[in-house]
Amino acid sequence: MRAVVFETPGIENLKGIGKALLRKTVEGCRGKFEIIVLEVLATNTVAKRLYQSMGFRTYGVLPGGVKRADRYIDVELMYLRLV
Ligand SMILES: CC(C)(COP(=O)(O)OP(=O)(O)OC[C@H]1O[C@@H](n2cnc3c(N)ncnc32)[C@H](O)[C@@H]1OP(=O)(O)O)[C@@H](O)C(=O)NCCC(=O)NCCS
Repeated sequence: MRAVVFETPGIENLKGIGKALLRKTVEGCRGKFEIIVLEVLATNTVAKRLYQSMGFRTYGVLPGGVKRADRYIDVELMYLRLV
């Protein structure tokens, strides 16, 4: 199953909301899935730190995986084992 672009638009001042949402998502997956995989732009240090703080680990990089305004950005592949 593939799902969800994780975002907390316009509520960046509510510190902790992203982590709370991700924790809820991960807990909701326990018992139903064995692993969660996600993709994050390598330049997105805030999101990467959030995922790392929840235990996600990087297993690869897709070089230039996303093109934005004629610029290629690496995509980092991350996983979290639930079992
Ligand atoms: C990524 C996003 C969901 C995080 O949500 P948030 O509510 O800002 O994050 P939180 O306040 O819960 O902080 C969670 C962790 O993120 C990291 N973080 C948050 N703000 C940060 C900042 N300004 N600089 C560095 N790391 C930061 C920290 O590791 C933090 O954990 P800590 O407070 O225990 O150190 C949010 O910034 C967002 O919507 N970004 C735009 C969309 C996006 O990039 N989505 C990810 C797609 S893969």
